[in-house]
Amino acid sequence: MVKNISWTNYNNFVDDEKMTNICVLGMGYIGLPTALLFANNDHEVVGVDVNHRVIETLKNETMPFEEEGFQEMLDNTIKSGSFRPETKVEDADVFLVAVPTPFDTDLRMADLKYVISACGMITPNLRKGNLVIIESTIPPKTCEKQVTPILEESGLKVPDDISLSHCPERAIPGNTLHEMVNNDRVIGGIDDRSTYLTAQLYSSFVKGNLHLTNSTTAEMIKLMENTFRDVNIALANELTQIADDYDVNVWEAIEVANKHPRVNIHTPGPGVGGHCIAIDPWFLTETTNKASLILTSRQINDSMPKYVLQQVKSMLNDVEKPTITVFGVAYKGDIGDTRATPALKFIKLAEKEGYRIKIYDPFVGEFDYPVLGLEDAVEESDCIVVLTDHSVFKEMNPGEFCGEMRRLNVFDARNVINLSFWMKCGYKTRIIGISD
Ligand SMILES: NC(=O)c1ccc[n+]([C@@H]2O[C@H](COP(=O)([O-])OP(=O)(O)OC[C@H]3O[C@@H](n4cnc5c(N)ncnc54)[C@H](O)[C@@H]3O)[C@@H](O)[C@H]2O)c1
Repeated sequence: MVKNISWTNYNNFVDDEKMTNICVLGMGYIGLPTALLFANNDHEVVGVDVNHRVIETLKNETMPFEEEGFQEMLDNTIKSGSFRPETKVEDADVFLVAVPTPFDTDLRMADLKYVISACGMITPNLRKGNLVIIESTIPPKTCEKQVTPILEESGLKVPDDISLSHCPERAIPGNTLHEMVNNDRVIGGIDDRSTYLTAQLYSSFVKGNLHLTNSTTAEMIKLMENTFRDVNIALANELTQIADDYDVNVWEAIEVANKHPRVNIHTPGPGVGGHCIAIDPWFLTETTNKASLILTSRQINDSMPKYVLQQVKSMLNDVEKPTITVFGVAYKGDIGDTRATPALKFIKLAEKEGYRIKIYDPFVGEFDYPVLGLEDAVEESDCIVVLTDHSVFKEMNPGEFCGEMRRLNVFDARNVINLSFWMKCGYKTRIIGISD
């Protein structure tokens, strides 16, 4: 249960703690912005990454990725000396770990190799009084059972000598600065002192509320948030298939149901992708045999590419070896990220059916399949299948390219296209969750 710890009590713990020097491991989408925010708020920060190219880029005062507000912060903090990119861990008051926690697709669990290696890198530099914070997304009990024994290889004891907390990140790329500063944060220490020290540290730049709890609860909260979204999307996807049986327009039904003050059904689609929502439910359930709703929801969302393909097939019954053009392979709109995208499963299933696939995605450069320009992608195509809700698809006028296509069919698995534009051009249109 989340504890409400008064700030007066909190002050008893932290009055004379020195937490000026911070060593952040992992200079990616989460670690680098966090390091810069601390450096910009009266801390001396060393940013460590095992990828030398990332460190070289930072030493040249260049952000390795675009994120509004951070280039200026990098310039300022490097100039003032409050931020230093390095390849080796240095002594510090606080060590913060923000390294990847990929999904092991064979075992269906978190692959903690980077967290384990980062903690091992810290151990030789640990001294009494240090605080270690894990920001990486981790399964419940990781701080207690996996991180603690590694830190104790230093000869010091957790929590008597070393404080340890989990402080999960909820910021979204594209709006990182605003969200890191303004979102509420969950802070869970291995003991109260760890919690309080971590809360004091983050209060230097976080304006949102700090919710204080223990490390295992914090680990679980982060995973619960994304699991809630996955289960809710699965519900929308299942309702879509039921609505099809009843010839009900599921979009209209969801919209009206959501007018109820206590109902909030998410939207259906071709499945769930990305490195969080589709993966965190597995982290949450990997060591329990109590999960059934969560795993069923995963199955439903994973089956959506097949469902979309069935719908597309029914539009192309009379076409031999059809060519289809996938519009959008990013896992969500207006970004170029294709990690765990459901589009990949759709494409592989369609290929098995003998379909020829062409891909258009104005945001994606590299993908497992060639991504073409619009004209090449629609040339001689029998059907366009919209799998990503990119804004450009919303107002796209097919009049500019319908002459290139062999047949005029479009299936929209996101309900984003402007139907009247497409119908005016003579397209046969179908939208997920709306039967003919
Ligand atoms: N990006 C997001 O939107 C987001 C949101 C919430 C939570 N998270 C979680 O935050 C964590 C970090 O994600 P990210 O997106 O910043 O990852 P990322 O891939 O962008 O960056 C991670 C960096 O860590 C470096 N690294 C790996 N091992 C290292 C080590 N031992 N020491 C130092 N550096 C090391 C890598 O070279 C890489 O540059 C993950 O657990 C992720 O699930 C990410």
